[in-house]
Amino acid sequence: MTTPTMTSLAITSLAPLLDRLFLEAEAARGATQAAVANLSDADRTRVTRMMRSKTDYAELYGLLKDDPLAVSRETGHLLYMLARSSRARTIVEFGTSFGISTLHLAAGLRDNGGGRLITSEFEPSKAARARENLSAGGLIDLVEIREGDALNTLSADLPETIDLVLLDGAKALYPEILDLVEGHLRPGAIIVADNADDSPDYLARVRAPGSGYMSTPFAEDVELSVRIN
Ligand SMILES: C[S@@+](CC[C@H](N)C(=O)[O-])C[C@H]1O[C@@H](n2cnc3c(N)ncnc32)[C@H](O)[C@@H]1O
Repeated sequence: MTTPTMTSLAITSLAPLLDRLFLEAEAARGATQAAVANLSDADRTRVTRMMRSKTDYAELYGLLKDDPLAVSRETGHLLYMLARSSRARTIVEFGTSFGISTLHLAAGLRDNGGGRLITSEFEPSKAARARENLSAGGLIDLVEIREGDALNTLSADLPETIDLVLLDGAKALYPEILDLVEGHLRPGAIIVADNADDSPDYLARVRAPGSGYMSTPFAEDVELSVRIN
């Protein structure tokens, strides 16, 4: 007879919280998509420019501050599984938003016996929501939310070695954020980059032969990379 395995994702305080947050994220995504569909051609061009810009991203995310822009449920599960399978103790996240991905990563740390998760968000109202959600999920003790632009907040005071990284902030900055964490990645460290198709420079870098990474697209919108030396 096998014993059912209980994970933090399934415990009573976290499972209903995640169900509610994913439902809210779905509703917000619908509203954002409807708003985008109604944009004039000029505004659509402006939004696309902001998405690709290494300087105008703050304006874009300011417009989206009420939308969790969360990873999918599947990606959330993947993050938890990768944290567990790599026995991660140190995780860095670029782009906290309401903390949905953070809850999955922190649950992985909890079930690994503890650890440290540093996450970064520049929208104060989103950082506050994330703090509330992580408190409600009983995981806030594992998480340090660094408020401000990740280009600054992740530029110092990182753990000596990092086991797992989630890139999910402004897509144009993925290469710059990789620069900040790269020297800390342990051999075998995992990097998950969400919506990496919007960051062609990043994809070219991690996929290049001799880059020090093995990398593959995964489940449509995720690039999964492993530091191999
Ligand atoms: C796609 S959302 C993150 C979703 C979150 N990972 C989740 O799945 O629940 C991206 C977030 O990154 C934040 N962000 C974007 N660029 C940033 C930057 N340079 N520094 C800090 N936060 C940033 C945005 O405000 C937004 O909340």
